[in-house]
Amino acid sequence: MFRKITTLVATAALSGLLVAGAAVAKDPITIKFSHVVAENTAKGQMANKFKDLIAERLAGKVQVEVFPSSQLFNDDGVLKAILLGDVQIAAPALSKFESYTRQLQIFDLPFLFKDMAAVEKFQTSEKGIELLDSLQKKGFVGLGYLHNGMKQLSSNSPLRVPSDANGLKFRIMSSDVLAAQFQALNAVPLKKPFSEVFTLLQTKAIDGQENSWSNIYSQKFFEVQPYITESNHGLLDYMVVTSKEFWMSIPDDERAIVRTALDEAIAFGNKVAEDKSIGDRQLILDSKRCEIIELTDAERSQWVEAMKPVWEQFEEEIGKDMIDAAYQSNM
Ligand code: LMR
Repeated sequence: MFRKITTLVATAALSGLLVAGAAVAKDPITIKFSHVVAENTAKGQMANKFKDLIAERLAGKVQVEVFPSSQLFNDDGVLKAILLGDVQIAAPALSKFESYTRQLQIFDLPFLFKDMAAVEKFQTSEKGIELLDSLQKKGFVGLGYLHNGMKQLSSNSPLRVPSDANGLKFRIMSSDVLAAQFQALNAVPLKKPFSEVFTLLQTKAIDGQENSWSNIYSQKFFEVQPYITESNHGLLDYMVVTSKEFWMSIPDDERAIVRTALDEAIAFGNKVAEDKSIGDRQLILDSKRCEIIELTDAERSQWVEAMKPVWEQFEEEIGKDMIDAAYQSNM
């Protein structure tokens, strides 16, 4: 009898251990991070840094898989994929959230921010944080802004004054503000995925595009565009996003560690972005593949004058108070 009880106790203990063992052996949470740029860009390096930090701090519990260069999704598809749970994190350009919120269009208004310091000041202000949270009702969590830099105009022909863009076809991201910006120049905007831009330029299906120094360099646009106008007319920044459902499914203590790792990776990415906006410009210049056109103050004023009416067109959707607050960050 005694032996039977002992065996029963031992069996129960063993099965308890097995259950505990099963809990320990649970599959780690996988975070698929999908993006469209090269690995050596600010976003690429931010994503890889995040992966490394998670591997260091949450080994066996959480793992990150990074899919660069539109391997998994382009930016228009990725937001849907996040909501469906096919991908857990992405960092699309702020211009690509248009079908979910109109408010983020503020970041596309031409000549709104004079430099990245003004962008940073606005994004960390109360209004900037309000915008980061603006996607909550659509099921997203805005985890942070990530910088790339100011946009330049590249083209097959030199663009010194706005009339030089007359009738030319420009690839844009999926943003109505960007469409209006080129329409204001009497140019033709075409919404196309990032992954198609090089070929469109190379085959001359389009005449030009707008992007940051880092993207113009890493995607080799400068090899197929003989002119880049240093216009600094707009911003290319990102929002690191996940779905509310996925975010809340991570246990509290692990979520806190993921959050810290993301903040650190974003800070790292922002430093890379700052360095690249100077370094990649220099690499393009050194390549001698294309001419960088620097605008005089008078020429620049003409671009401002031509593009700025776009603000009024979108004032109602974005909110005048929001635009005023962003503009104030230049002071
Ligand atoms: C673009 O489509 O031009 C950019 O959004 C790509 C990127 O993510 O930097």
